[in-house]
Amino acid sequence: MVREITRLESPIDVQYLMHEAYIAISLRVEAMAADLQAGGGVQPLRDAFSLWGKHLLHHAKIEDAHMTGPLAEIAARDNEAEHAALAVRAGTVSALYADSARGHALGRTVSLEARFALEQLEHAELDRRLLDIDEQLQRELGERSLGVRRRRHVYSSLVALRVAEFDHFENEETFVIPLVRERFDEDAELDLARRCLIDDTASDPRWIIDSVADELSPAKQGLLRDLEARF
Ligand SMILES: [Fe+2]
Ligand SMILES: [Fe+2]
Repeated sequence: MVREITRLESPIDVQYLMHEAYIAISLRVEAMAADLQAGGGVQPLRDAFSLWGKHLLHHAKIEDAHMTGPLAEIAARDNEAEHAALAVRAGTVSALYADSARGHALGRTVSLEARFALEQLEHAELDRRLLDIDEQLQRELGERSLGVRRRRHVYSSLVALRVAEFDHFENEETFVIPLVRERFDEDAELDLARRCLIDDTASDPRWIIDSVADELSPAKQGLLRDLEARF
């Protein structure tokens, strides 16, 4: 999970820095929710939670559209080409060879599809948990004070969200990031990294990169600056 990154070998490695920053933000929100068990206002927790949620939603949206989407298209194209090649070969080589080659190609397809499906399912799961907690907090803000029982509920929901987030980052780093490195060229990786860090649709397009930098060590902030200079 949190890796000791001293350089970005590839632009997509910025994902490790972003995940590290989001982990720090989520642990801080969780600690605030734990403190709230002893009393205090809900608003500071809600503000911190909103920022965490805003990051996760934007991050997942960009990944779905500009990382998993293009990867799935590349995989489908590869697959089509592979099947066409197999059909030609099947006519010229033994049936046994064609069958085993086809089986191999199929195995690879299933495994790639499973990776993309997992990425999208986990994004939807994070989305669902975020909305649920947001509703809980909104409801509680409408009342003068949050009951002990409800505080416990909010806390346990936040812990569950944080665990789902950690699992997701781990899966993405294991199953998806290596594919990006393998299939995207340098320019495509730089474009994806820029979209993850800079929000062109916001009044402050730097809200992500600035907030991520705040969570990183000075050395890692330097890596972020070097990467940004290449955008
Ligand atoms: Fe990510
Ligand atoms: Fe993701």
